[in-house]
Amino acid sequence: MATPSSSRGTWNTKIGFILAAAGSAVGLGNIWGFPTQVADNGGAAFILIYLFCCLLVGFPVMVAELAIGRRTQKNPVGAFKALSNGNKFASLIGYWGVLCGIMILSFYVVISGWTLAYVFEELFYYFNYDTAALYVGDLGNGPKNAAFTLFFMLLTILVVTGGVSKGIERATKMLMPVLIAILLILIVYIMTLEGATDGLAMFFMPDFSTVDGSLLLSALGQAFFSLSLGMGALITYGSYLNKKQNIVESAAYVTIFDIGIAIIAGLLVIPAMFVAQAAGVQIFNPETGDLFSSVTLVFDVLPEMFHNVGGFIGMLLGVTFFILLGLAALTSSISLLEVPTSYVIDEHGVQRKKAAWLVGGFVGIIGVVVSFELSLIDLFVEIFNEVGLPLGGLMICLFLGYFWKTENALLEIQDGYPTVNDGKFRIFWIIMIKFISPVLIALVLITTIWTLFFA
Ligand code: PFF
Repeated sequence: MATPSSSRGTWNTKIGFILAAAGSAVGLGNIWGFPTQVADNGGAAFILIYLFCCLLVGFPVMVAELAIGRRTQKNPVGAFKALSNGNKFASLIGYWGVLCGIMILSFYVVISGWTLAYVFEELFYYFNYDTAALYVGDLGNGPKNAAFTLFFMLLTILVVTGGVSKGIERATKMLMPVLIAILLILIVYIMTLEGATDGLAMFFMPDFSTVDGSLLLSALGQAFFSLSLGMGALITYGSYLNKKQNIVESAAYVTIFDIGIAIIAGLLVIPAMFVAQAAGVQIFNPETGDLFSSVTLVFDVLPEMFHNVGGFIGMLLGVTFFILLGLAALTSSISLLEVPTSYVIDEHGVQRKKAAWLVGGFVGIIGVVVSFELSLIDLFVEIFNEVGLPLGGLMICLFLGYFWKTENALLEIQDGYPTVNDGKFRIFWIIMIKFISPVLIALVLITTIWTLFFA
């Protein structure tokens, strides 16, 4: 491959990279995070702001990360070092990304473990092993959570030690269409049930009275999380890109695809919530109107729906859904682990296998703690996802716009997109990266800090 460090892997085909990046983007963020956030933040107004965040902030930052990665062929820490001649402050952006990767992965594996546990829950339920079904379906059971968390961590480590190219490229190619098909089948089914139209109303009718600083932060954090931005995952994936690939086009595909899957998942989960409510399951606190539990919502509501379908078909849909969700989570968790692992490989000269086990083992230990203390999930989401990723995105914009300079990045983007400097994209991107995105992110972060500490 045409890179300075020949030991680094590379994506085999154009579509291979797009699938891998889409695999990183599409995950729990779309199917667990997005619908929960929509329900938590009053529905359609949140969705509109979320779309705005993805297209106007997320997409330009994605192009930035890919350009930085492909130019330097390095992990995030190495990449910022290389572009800044070793400037300490610039390397901090990379270190922040590595820390966010570790901490986000530590709760991501716990939720991914739940998806695996629910594969068994559906099976046990179908075969009338009620005690076993209740045991694996109990989200508050620490030892059971820890076991599934460690198992999922093990799968993640195994893929990362093997390198990401072939297996992931092939798996995602088959996985995505089946996932979409199942989601669509379930949407059609849920629409026939009582309560579903209330869910649709929540999804499509905006109520802007709910919009405040914290909603903006949630939407921005969700956009960064769902698109895998702000911590250098796409710098790392971009470092395995060849020079023929059109970065802008690839980023556009990944962004659109990720938004599409989130919307489809929302169209399933939000109506499913209201159907469950019509069937007597308490979703909202009647006094405050808030969700009872945002972390576990999807796992309370969806199995309810599969059990409603009932019989062999219900079990088949449930099992396939949770297996696919687990696989979608796996193609994301590997990209989360790849960031700290590639840092340890490149900057400390450790072999890939050893590095993946070291970092993965460490994350697994934190994951076990989270398994027993689920309130840490909310805390980690707030610190590392809602604040951490936009903060990382802000620093990436400022670094690229004012330190490395957009002209240099555009030279990199020109490889694979020779006419980039002639069209409208250039001016849109420069304005977004240098002015609009950093100002928007900074405003949202300042408002949040203000309300947290001074209001
Ligand atoms: N984008 C993933 C999801 O939506 O589940 C989560 C994620 C992966 C976040 C990689 C950040 C990241 F770097």
